[in-house]
Amino acid sequence: VITPPLAHAASQIRPSVFAELQSRIDAHVRAGGRLIPLHIGDTVRPPPDAARLSVAAAGDDPALYRYGPTAGLSALREAVAARVASELGDGETVDAEQEVLIGAGATHALACLLRCILEPGDEVVLPTPFWPLTPGVIEAAGGRVVEVPLHPVESLPERIAAARTARTKVVYLISPNNPDGTVIPSTVVARVHRDLVERRAWLVADEVYFDYIYGERATRMAAHPGARDHTITVGSLSKSHALAGARVGWAVAPAPLITAARRMSVHTLFNVPLVAQRAALAALREGDGWIAAALEDYRSARAIALEGLAPLARHGVEWRVPDGGSYVFLELGPLLRRAGHEASSARPLLESMIDAGVLLSPGDASGSRHATAARLCFTAVELADLREGIARIAATVERAVR
Ligand SMILES: Cc1ncc(COP(=O)(O)O)c(C=O)c1O
Repeated sequence: VITPPLAHAASQIRPSVFAELQSRIDAHVRAGGRLIPLHIGDTVRPPPDAARLSVAAAGDDPALYRYGPTAGLSALREAVAARVASELGDGETVDAEQEVLIGAGATHALACLLRCILEPGDEVVLPTPFWPLTPGVIEAAGGRVVEVPLHPVESLPERIAAARTARTKVVYLISPNNPDGTVIPSTVVARVHRDLVERRAWLVADEVYFDYIYGERATRMAAHPGARDHTITVGSLSKSHALAGARVGWAVAPAPLITAARRMSVHTLFNVPLVAQRAALAALREGDGWIAAALEDYRSARAIALEGLAPLARHGVEWRVPDGGSYVFLELGPLLRRAGHEASSARPLLESMIDAGVLLSPGDASGSRHATAARLCFTAVELADLREGIARIAATVERAVR
């Protein structure tokens, strides 16, 4: 078909990271094989009962079927504000009226915020490896991604400073990180803040995995002195309360930015579906015990994943123990070299894993330096499947080096 032309922007949006692996996946499924999905970033846990019950009870309420407040339910904004204020430290307050954005997932909140900050071609410094959707969200808002290595994390502030140009508008930090679980130390964040104040740039503090840290609790990036003037704290009910399908996320940021981002949200969405906001509200009000239980489940799943992966170290597979979040990021480069594979991409090995019935997410979606890596999510399947999936990975690796 010959259609009228599309905008340049349409060609800038990245295709799904699975587009290239899809034919292999289809073939495996057609042949009757079962695939263990360790590639998606989700959880097998059902959300808190309160959230599910609020959805079940909501059906006959006519208000749900009308337009809702464009800024989000005030009770939901208040619940977010109260939670973030308590995490920012004693005496801190967050104004639910002016400083909280409710989005259809953090993805939509970020899209609205970045559209209000970036002029076409403005730069966003983004440490790698990153959440696979991040560059697309930035580019769809007109920005240009400038990748810098996240590790070694102690010298991250120097690399960020070196990447700075007159067009740098945002530094985007994910902590705990998707895909490698790094929690950026507070001393490092403090140095990034100092640089940002100097250059008058924003910090996106993507803390969607904040509740899932396996060691000592971290402090919010916005909790540093003077940080709130330039920091956008981002959270997601997808991650905090297993409500990914409800699509509710939030951001806390200075009032002028929130006002502008709400306007962007009105004109792209109008209001976040009310039933989803009610579920989110119930989860925030009653879900603290649920989070504590989820943290312990995820800790066990992480231990099982690390135990299953341990034998792969002798074949050259490398990873860092995740401080938080749901993933282990596997560096397969040394293994590929040993196995005599072309050492520039993990794709052929990921295809062999698909043939063996297990899916990992390709590392190149997390940055141009990570083509020989792959991401494993340890919260997306039941523990028996996690064990089986890792056994299939191990068998594929053994075959590759034989
Ligand atoms: C680091 C990070 N930020 C933001 C999001 C977006 O979350 P959602 O749009 O589901 O709220 C995700 C989802 O995977 C993520 O991993």
